[in-house]
Amino acid sequence: MRRRAFLSLLGGTALAWPRTLEGLARDFQVGGDAQDEDFWSRVRGRFLIPPERIYLNNGTLGPSPEVVVEAVNEHARRVASTYPPGVDWDDLKGSVGAFIGADPEGLVFPRNTTEAMSFVAQGLDLDPGGEILTSDHEHIGGLCPWQVVCSRRELPLRVFSLPVPASTQESLLDTIMGAVSEETRVLSLSHVTFTTGTRLPLEEVAELCRERGIILVVDGAHPPGMVKLDLASWDPDFYASSPHKWLLAPQGSGLLYLGDEWRSNLWPTLASGGWDDRELGAQRFNHLGTFDESRMAGLIAAVEFLNAIGMDRVEGRVRYLRQRLEAGLRGMPGVRVVSPVEEDLATGMVSFSLDGVDSLILQRHLARSAAVRTRVISEYEYGWMRLSTHIYNLPGEVDRALELLDDVRRNGLS
Ligand SMILES: Cc1ncc(COP(=O)(O)O)c(C=O)c1O
Repeated sequence: MRRRAFLSLLGGTALAWPRTLEGLARDFQVGGDAQDEDFWSRVRGRFLIPPERIYLNNGTLGPSPEVVVEAVNEHARRVASTYPPGVDWDDLKGSVGAFIGADPEGLVFPRNTTEAMSFVAQGLDLDPGGEILTSDHEHIGGLCPWQVVCSRRELPLRVFSLPVPASTQESLLDTIMGAVSEETRVLSLSHVTFTTGTRLPLEEVAELCRERGIILVVDGAHPPGMVKLDLASWDPDFYASSPHKWLLAPQGSGLLYLGDEWRSNLWPTLASGGWDDRELGAQRFNHLGTFDESRMAGLIAAVEFLNAIGMDRVEGRVRYLRQRLEAGLRGMPGVRVVSPVEEDLATGMVSFSLDGVDSLILQRHLARSAAVRTRVISEYEYGWMRLSTHIYNLPGEVDRALELLDDVRRNGLS
């Protein structure tokens, strides 16, 4: 981040530039190939994760690097020192907009994906009879907002099935568009599913939806910070996200992108001054009453951190770690991987089941015996274990997790 932007975010020059931001660019200038362990151990050194902990649950919450924690603290200190809080919305929007390739004017900053999806579901005028279409791989944060609206207004909510594992982009596109009917008014889908980490071809879906007048609502909780994004190139109607996952921002840093036509046409769910001033566009939705602006300082620092590393390198490293993990899992008899094999569908999350072993019991075993943090996808009764790998993970951690799983596979859970 530009130093000036950060200082203006802090509302002036009274507070120190966070120590950890100094030297970021220098540290990450050279190297950074997917297997450059020297580079990636420097990255790991920027996190607060103790060496004995193996964190494989970024899909739930990304641990912020120290630079982000410092930015949050600096801002909180500023407020407690009675300086005026100083979020510079233009800097914030500019920095996040450039990071996800979106028009900064369409950006709103709620607390998380759940809130962002609720803003969309509650704010649309929906015709009676028109259906909302979604899949059987949606997270409650992307699904429940529709359940509320559909129950209250007696609208049909139809759920179609996605294949497991998904095989190709083309077949996924056929499945998705094959589920659309004449009555479909809204198609609400995850860009990357939380269940199997499958990347859905929503860029293509967006174009087909536009042709048919269907509103495309994307639950993009995972992609920012995991893969490079260019929202402007496919311009979904809505894109909701949680930068506290892969972008490694502070908890409660949400994001909602509104396509051009919705900036003046969506109804606000949380209303304050200017709610009906359509000329304010998406900024109407940023008038949320008093809230914790220090998370905005943290969000900008998180963008700065990932920019200093570079999203090409981030993507390469996430891919390398996932491939290592997946190869190990696929090589183990009794393990059924439900995540896709195809590179253009696979992401930083791999889900699987182990024959004869309850994933929840396995999760407890890994946590207690070796401080390995995982996620179990109990939703929809899938019962899979999900492991996520991000830039702070080291190959040795992936190997250790594989060894532990292999031990359970051979010897059972003692
Ligand atoms: C795909 C997806 N959507 C929505 C959410 C909810 O995110 P949040 O709790 O940040 O609202 C999650 C959380 O894991 C998710 O994986």
